[in-house]
Amino acid sequence: MVIFGASGDLTRRKLIPALYELRRKDRLPPEIRVVGVSRTRYTDESWRDYLEEKVREAVGGKFVPDIWHEFARCLFYRPGDITNPESVFALEGALREIEGDRPRCRIYYFATAPEHYEVAVRHLGMSGMVSEEKGPVRVVIEKPFGTNLATARQLNQVLHQVFREDQIFRIDHYLGKETVQNILVLRFANSIFEPIWNRNYIDHVQITAAEASTVGTRGAYYDSAGVLRDMFQNHLLQLLTLTAMEAPVRFDPDCIRDEKVKVLRAITPMRPEEVEQNTIRGQYRKYRDEPNIPPNSTTATFGAVRLFVENWRWKGVPFYLRSGKAMECTTTQIVIQFQLPPHMMFPTGPRSIKEANRLVIQIQPAEGVQLQFQTKVPNGAMQLRLTDLSFQFRQITGDIPDAYQRLLLDVMNGDPSLFARADEVELAWGIIDPIVEAWEAGHPPLALYEAGEWGPPICDQWMEAQGRRWLNVCPIIT
Ligand code: BG6
Repeated sequence: MVIFGASGDLTRRKLIPALYELRRKDRLPPEIRVVGVSRTRYTDESWRDYLEEKVREAVGGKFVPDIWHEFARCLFYRPGDITNPESVFALEGALREIEGDRPRCRIYYFATAPEHYEVAVRHLGMSGMVSEEKGPVRVVIEKPFGTNLATARQLNQVLHQVFREDQIFRIDHYLGKETVQNILVLRFANSIFEPIWNRNYIDHVQITAAEASTVGTRGAYYDSAGVLRDMFQNHLLQLLTLTAMEAPVRFDPDCIRDEKVKVLRAITPMRPEEVEQNTIRGQYRKYRDEPNIPPNSTTATFGAVRLFVENWRWKGVPFYLRSGKAMECTTTQIVIQFQLPPHMMFPTGPRSIKEANRLVIQIQPAEGVQLQFQTKVPNGAMQLRLTDLSFQFRQITGDIPDAYQRLLLDVMNGDPSLFARADEVELAWGIIDPIVEAWEAGHPPLALYEAGEWGPPICDQWMEAQGRRWLNVCPIIT
């Protein structure tokens, strides 16, 4: 596995800790070699020393010095510059030396700045590094995959000149989260949910990814991306497709991704004049005081978007997506809000939508599922109360692995089920682009919010005007 961008944040915070954890659990092929490449001049030894400290921080009590030292022997570092063809040719020589004559599978992991992806792909192609004579070759691309539909298409074209689609693994780390995969199990390995999982029983769906943290040191990137590109085009739309898709016939990469693509096709991109009534755009106060943020920035750090999936199952059911930085707490949850009973025979009970049944899938923290329903208050005449049945993964499994562990193993095994396909990424941009354009033109106006709130107050009012209410609970399963 060759990691380009080896001195970067992702490598030390996610990739190497995930590989170490896989080794600790004995799930890593023993013959693996990980070669870090970037411009910083480390040696094998100094890179290993530097990573040891970072992995200790990342995995805490799971750090076992003996396992680390054994694992560290498979880490190598070669200074290099992926934008320089000569450097790439030299790297091929270095890789051959490390590999010897053995058959191998090569994985190129792009953890570099995204503006280098295209040139990196071209250089790999030119230098013969994509030959599959000695075994499979795969490429992993981190987000952001383009900054709009045009650039994503262009990147796909460049990739397809050098790689087949089945060699390309576009990462969306949300798909590696256990609870995200559990959406499929909950829906399609049970028979009690699917019959009511449609417009006849569901009033609406809320998908929230709230983060208490601010943009911190990522100002330069974040200010040019904003919340729509950072969270909606990828993570939130992925959660939507898994929630809304039809049952795939098999757990197989193309069967799953075909169904997800059908959902994205069923979402009609908004016309410019529709954006104002279907979205809320916010920025936390003090955002402009953060490092590397221009004092007059209008970048959104919060967004809420209402989408419709135009098909038989979902016609007329709004999907509300919302995400923000500097929110009251960190939680990602999917709320399936069911309708009220058609007729209420009890004198007290659900009179407003907030008391109808709900299924809450809590992606993080405290991963789990909660079903909310009415029960009788004992000794209370015919008084009703909303109660719940909760399930928490931690109760049965203890530790929940980081998403990258699963995704890295899938790349090694050549299974792209949990990675975004070319058409999926492009369709997602097609949905987000018109919103980005309207926002950049100032529609709807930017609403400020205090850090530590659930976005701008206008967002709650917007929901209430539709007879609905956000589930602002932090987090619902503890
Ligand atoms: C990343 C975004 O893709 O996802 C970040 O760039 C965000 O801004 C992060 O904080 C959230 O991921 P997680 O796994 O912490 O929910």
